[in-house]
Amino acid sequence: MTSAAKASADFVAAAESVLASQDEAARKQLLGTAMKATAMLEAPLDAVWRMVMSPHAPAACMTLIKAGVIQEIAKSDAPLTAEHLSKTSGADKLLLVCLLRPLSALGVVKEARQEEYAPTPVTKILVDRALLGGYQFMFSAATRSLANLPFYLEKTNFKHVSGAPGPFQDAHGTPDNMYLWLASDPAMMANFNAFMTGQRADRKQWFDFIDVYDILLKGADPSAPLLIDIGGGEGHDLLEFHRRYPNAPGRLILQDLPPVIDSIQDLPSKVECQKYDFFQEQPVKGARCYYFRSIFHNWPDADCIKILRNTAAAMRPGYSKLLMSEFVLPSSNTPLYPALLDINMMALLNGMERTEAEFSALLDAAGLKVVKFWSVGAETEGLVEAVLKD
Ligand SMILES: C[S@@+](CC[C@H](N)C(=O)[O-])C[C@H]1O[C@@H](n2cnc3c(N)ncnc32)[C@H](O)[C@@H]1O
Repeated sequence: MTSAAKASADFVAAAESVLASQDEAARKQLLGTAMKATAMLEAPLDAVWRMVMSPHAPAACMTLIKAGVIQEIAKSDAPLTAEHLSKTSGADKLLLVCLLRPLSALGVVKEARQEEYAPTPVTKILVDRALLGGYQFMFSAATRSLANLPFYLEKTNFKHVSGAPGPFQDAHGTPDNMYLWLASDPAMMANFNAFMTGQRADRKQWFDFIDVYDILLKGADPSAPLLIDIGGGEGHDLLEFHRRYPNAPGRLILQDLPPVIDSIQDLPSKVECQKYDFFQEQPVKGARCYYFRSIFHNWPDADCIKILRNTAAAMRPGYSKLLMSEFVLPSSNTPLYPALLDINMMALLNGMERTEAEFSALLDAAGLKVVKFWSVGAETEGLVEAVLKD
């Protein structure tokens, strides 16, 4: 056996043993090593070609989702023929065979025999409500804007995006921001809300890594609102908080735009729902905590400052806190995922991810100051804790 063959076999054996052990930290460590090794071993030409060829498989996958083919394969345990898939979807058999080839090469489906397709773990998870909604939302809203981004930015003489009209408006031919655009398409809004509800299933909640008693519960006035989740979507974060702290004193309030609040079906009565636009005066005064998750990366600086000022005006000095759950970018060597998310926010919402210095400047402009940046690593969201300036 050559040394390369032995090293490859050893690595595969290590991967099999880590998978069998179900040790998540070890799996991530080994994956990190594999990715580093891929970057080292990939020839420069291959790296460029991989980027050039990267839109193709997602486009094939989106087409197959729209045709219901991924869903059909996912629900079957036995392999399904291209013939059968063509009959159930109404799509041409030859088209399906073409589109399924790259997905089979990538492990999204398995070509069990010639032109027969079985589900893989990827097919199965892809049809989960949050991921299926998320995939369709991202492809329709973000991918179209990303494909147009270089042409849009060239038209602006390469200015950093700082407000509407921006790449989203240019690509979609609309004056509206993404949330207004969603409001006019209930099916796409349902996709987006499902995505928000389930997209972070494998990430830590902020209340897993901060001292909730110290920051929130200690000294909380039971007659005042405890926690307001502003732009909280369908209320998943408050629901989880209530599960974890069922006896926390004070009210739990979910605020979002009217179409989102109207779409909510079942939340426990402990969570009060309010229709609220955060560009208007905050109606709930003196709460213990005003909480925002993944809100500020949606907006350019000027809009963030407006939202923060509206919140600051409702906060009780010496009592109220403001918490933002966001990625906090390191000042250099940002990992790939948050670096890509930054471009995503630019393409969708004229928004951006921010560094500690950029968050501090936003808060300062709205009469607030940082108490602490809580972090569990640069690859996931941290928490920015802030209070009113003295
Ligand atoms: C990226 S989602 C985050 C949802 C939730 N906080 C989460 O992290 O899962 C942004 C949320 O902001 C809401 N939103 C957008 N514009 C708003 C506005 N002007 N006032 C209140 N909520 C708004 C959207 O409806 C959406 O639920």
